[in-house]
Amino acid sequence: MRPPKGGTPNNHKNMRNPLSLKLGALTLDVPFFQASLSGYSDYAMRRLARCFGCPFALADMMLAKSAAHPGVLDMPCFRPGEDEHPVGAQILGKTPATMARAAAALAAVGYDLIDLNFACPAPKVLRKGRGGALLDDPDTVIDILKAVRDAVTCPVLMKLRLGANRKPECLDRFWQIVTRAVEQNVDALVIHGRTLSEKYRGKADWDILAEVKWRFPHATIVGSGDIFDPSATVELLKRTGLDGFVVARGAVGNPWIFRELRCVWEGRPVPPPPDLAEQRAVMLDHLDWTLQGYPELLGVGHFRKFAVGYARHHPKRKQVLLTLLKAKTRAEVEAAIDAWYK
Ligand SMILES: Cc1cc2nc3c(=O)[nH]c(=O)nc-3n(C[C@H](O)[C@H](O)[C@H](O)COP(=O)(O)O)c2cc1C
Repeated sequence: MRPPKGGTPNNHKNMRNPLSLKLGALTLDVPFFQASLSGYSDYAMRRLARCFGCPFALADMMLAKSAAHPGVLDMPCFRPGEDEHPVGAQILGKTPATMARAAAALAAVGYDLIDLNFACPAPKVLRKGRGGALLDDPDTVIDILKAVRDAVTCPVLMKLRLGANRKPECLDRFWQIVTRAVEQNVDALVIHGRTLSEKYRGKADWDILAEVKWRFPHATIVGSGDIFDPSATVELLKRTGLDGFVVARGAVGNPWIFRELRCVWEGRPVPPPPDLAEQRAVMLDHLDWTLQGYPELLGVGHFRKFAVGYARHHPKRKQVLLTLLKAKTRAEVEAAIDAWYK
């Protein structure tokens, strides 16, 4: 079964409607949010996204076993910031009872939504039968969904890929998971339009995502994959009829993407790209907020992961990047930023 060519065009009667994307009881005023990005989507990244108009963000993926362990969630880095609601937690695991305990613990420390990761393609995750490995095991996926739903009252989402690979039996299991999750009234499915074996190669397959929405028009289907260009993304959303999309790599060192997306979505003129003064201010805030959560050397190392994205906005990209990558302390990063952005 395929949808009409180009997907089910969504007239987006709700375009510019202030209530745009429903994730169970949580309603966002625009149809997008920040994805979970392991190693990136910490408090600093989420706070910046929010400053630029992102209505909701997912925190870094957490191992359910850790989240369920007494005391772990007492650590500030695993708790949501008071100023960042609504914010969601994402958990990774293969045992329904542990996933349920983790979800309950995360909801108890203030997360507003739980996302279940059945999409991670990292070999060390797959070897342990977690993340994307469960795409081959629809029964366990649904058992986890049911156990987590019973354990929390907040919305529960599932993050999927299209299957382990493109073999018919893998796609068949993907459809089984989607069908059964929708029957269980999952609050939304967030689907990355690639298989595990495709990792991040090639283009994400939004035609299959359109087919999911076409087959399950009453379910909330959120797409993921290659969200870099705001105008093209809003067009893609209209063409495919999906309910929304998540921004992932496109937001690394580029929180401005949320401002641009909001403008395009709301039909307002897109502001010019950030000037050097704005870039400087944002980078300094990012560094500062990062260092509130990590010791200096670790925090600077973490901040440097965003350097490629930030440097891309500067006319002397290569030189800026080299200087930023060499900086090892807070003072060195600040000096590098001052040297290039003043
Ligand atoms: C470095 C990196 C880390 C990621 N970590 C997670 C994660 O922890 N949980 C998750 O659901 N997806 C994760 N993803 C996948 C993204 O959320 C997203 O689905 C994928 O990057 C496709 O979107 P994009 O092409 O717009 O980046 C990660 C992707 C990258 C590149």
